[in-house]
Amino acid sequence: MYKKFLNLGLQPLANSYLQKNNLKKKEKNFKLEIGIDMQTLLVSIKNTVPKQKMFNDKYPYNSSASKTMKKSFFDLAQKIKKNYKHNYLLEIGSNDGAFLKNFNKKNIVGVEPCKNLAVITKKLKYKTYPNYWNCNLARKITKLNKADIIYSANTLSHIKNLNEIFKAIKLALSDDGILILEDPSLLECLKKVAYDQFYCEHIYVFSTIALRNILKKFSLEIFHIENLSTHGGSNRYYIKRSQSKKNKVKSSVKKEILKELNFGINKFRTYKDFENKVKKSKKKLLNLLKQIKNKNFNIIGYGATAKSCTVLNYCKIDSKIIDYFYDTTKDKINKYLPGSKILVKKYQKLNYKKYNYVFLGAWNFKSEIFKKEKSYINKGGRFITHIPYPKII
Ligand code: TMP
Repeated sequence: MYKKFLNLGLQPLANSYLQKNNLKKKEKNFKLEIGIDMQTLLVSIKNTVPKQKMFNDKYPYNSSASKTMKKSFFDLAQKIKKNYKHNYLLEIGSNDGAFLKNFNKKNIVGVEPCKNLAVITKKLKYKTYPNYWNCNLARKITKLNKADIIYSANTLSHIKNLNEIFKAIKLALSDDGILILEDPSLLECLKKVAYDQFYCEHIYVFSTIALRNILKKFSLEIFHIENLSTHGGSNRYYIKRSQSKKNKVKSSVKKEILKELNFGINKFRTYKDFENKVKKSKKKLLNLLKQIKNKNFNIIGYGATAKSCTVLNYCKIDSKIIDYFYDTTKDKINKYLPGSKILVKKYQKLNYKKYNYVFLGAWNFKSEIFKKEKSYINKGGRFITHIPYPKII
């Protein structure tokens, strides 16, 4: 049974940045409600948006834009090369090749439905299929050779039909092959009151317990888990076919499940608590921003993330409160954030004399950003975050 626990109101499509001449046009909105399937414990958004509307030839997110992500992919590639013998590797959701590029072109294949991104790796001569992942594609790609490793980061949580996904993965994976999945962790999301993990593209936020329940249906099993700090707290799951004798199940799996159970991930009450914390977070953030504005300080935003879209629209924050956002992504610059219609400007090093407060939209890159803006902070410039509760840092 699916039980709703949070309503984040009407939201636009998170990555649909607006051109100036479209500002007056009515945007497509959808009701962002979140619930849990009490049988599998899978947390998902209730209403979904057709994938073609989100993942097309204009997808504005590049993994390579962040040093943190590039390092995370590099480190994993080294680990795979050292620990897991493989003939060939397949990546589902290869984006602009931030992971792919760590491997020899002969050993890796990418699948990326956003055509503006798929062309980037194609140009670099990496075999890239500009398609959505499904059984037909899996058969086509692995007709001659099955993949020894399938990797997918921040992609499966974006795909509605998990049955098709896992069926296709089973078609493509060799008998003793390994599936490595990486997605935001529900436990971290609940602990950090990171309600902005929910937006149109994030159909699911997985817990280990829910993922294990789903994988069981496909005779797949998690044998190791790593906790990552990327994307606001993620888990990297190492998965094998249940019947494969290779790769013994490690203690990390039991440990993670215990952590989740201790937090009450299997109890509906935990989700109602989360709802209350989210409501409080909204009130507190609005109060904080208003107090700053009342003192005649100006506020800008840093990192026009998809997550920010949820926060801005849920809290009804617009350009009367945040003057504009800085972002490094070319495709977002000189456009407006959906819903809130706040302008996104090309990133410039923060200048304490121009603005005293900066709302940290890209809170998931806090350490990278704080390092970069050391001088702004040292001069007295302040960041505002809503994670794990609204405060000035
Ligand atoms: P994400 O949270 O969906 O990964 O998006 C991160 C956004 O933040 C992306 O648009 C790039 C932006 N960003 C900056 O503008 N400056 C930075 O230093 C970092 C790390 C990210």
